[in-house]
Amino acid sequence: MSTVPAVCHAQLPQGNGAPSEEEPMADVMPPNMLQERPQTPAGLLSNREKDRLIERGFLGLYRWYTARSQETRNWNPDRSFDWRSLNKNLPPEVITVLEGFFAVEQYAPDFTSNLVHLVRRSHGRSHFQLRWGSEEEKHADAWENAVLFSGQRSPEWVEEYKDRLKSQTWELPFPDAIHNLVYTVFQERATQLNYLNMMKIAQGKSDKPHLKGVSDPVLARVAQTIAVDEAAHYNFFLEGVRMYLYYYPEQTLSAIKNVITQFSMPAAQLVPNWEHFFETVYRAGIYGPRDFQRDVMQVAFRNLGIESRKALEEGIRKTREVPDFDGGNFKTTAIWDTFDYGAVEGDVRRLHVKIQDYEKEIGFDAIDPTEFIENPEVPRTGSSAADD
Ligand SMILES: [Fe+2]
Ligand SMILES: [Fe+2]
Repeated sequence: MSTVPAVCHAQLPQGNGAPSEEEPMADVMPPNMLQERPQTPAGLLSNREKDRLIERGFLGLYRWYTARSQETRNWNPDRSFDWRSLNKNLPPEVITVLEGFFAVEQYAPDFTSNLVHLVRRSHGRSHFQLRWGSEEEKHADAWENAVLFSGQRSPEWVEEYKDRLKSQTWELPFPDAIHNLVYTVFQERATQLNYLNMMKIAQGKSDKPHLKGVSDPVLARVAQTIAVDEAAHYNFFLEGVRMYLYYYPEQTLSAIKNVITQFSMPAAQLVPNWEHFFETVYRAGIYGPRDFQRDVMQVAFRNLGIESRKALEEGIRKTREVPDFDGGNFKTTAIWDTFDYGAVEGDVRRLHVKIQDYEKEIGFDAIDPTEFIENPEVPRTGSSAADD
């Protein structure tokens, strides 16, 4: 196990990832403290207004997502695959991996109930988590079918395994909404990568000697179908983090930093023989620390306008060195150098165009359109500076 560094086995953090105490967001602030919120300097968006804009964005995105999910990804874990034709001679390593995939996904009810509860005051986010949960539940059933139809595990074995898994409860990796949102971005991307690499193995494309020549078109299709869902999940949560990054850069960047420092896959503490599973996944070339760095962290960073982990840590450190004057805007200006806010603003704008196009299709545009509002804290350069 020495080949797998601590990042993958880190204990899920409990309570040490709180966002910065200044200017808390509404969803992490107890209601009895709302009156103590600092005054918003003139010309800037209040937290209440920012929260409203983010909520509208989530709501529009959720409506768009649901329509899209029903149109393009409405598959069924039983009927969409020819289970009888699943390869009955898959190598034991592949079965171990399928078992682990199933184990993680079958916590879908725990993931969903915890997350729904966390964001219950947000229409867009809580309804989305239900939709998301219904997709994750299909993943669990599809992976269970794969284990069962492999012919290498008896129904009794599967039953017992499930009992063992269900005797434990998955808890949120972080206490607050923003950290969990950020965590999910990295988790969805990592999961997608796991499934895509399983697809490659099933297509006979593995370069590992013990997996060369494996061929299972059914398994390849299962892995690909689920991976497409995971990509859609990644995108939803990514758009959410972009909105937070745009309106609350400091809290969001520090959440990103906290999450990557302690990232581990969900349910790593709950699944029996996790070490064996992880080792098998690693040796199969499916997922390991290098993949996390290169294909998860770097990809998410690029999508969030963050140059590198080093740049992120440096940026946060510098921001904290700048003195914070009461009621002033001095502290927040330094944060804008930490990431490519222009790119993020462009992405948030594009998200709103997508939502607006959808609303036009339905007729919402004439009644209650979702609008993009610029964050006035963003430093304006070039021609747009003349407007200030
Ligand atoms: Fe999933
Ligand atoms: Fe997912």
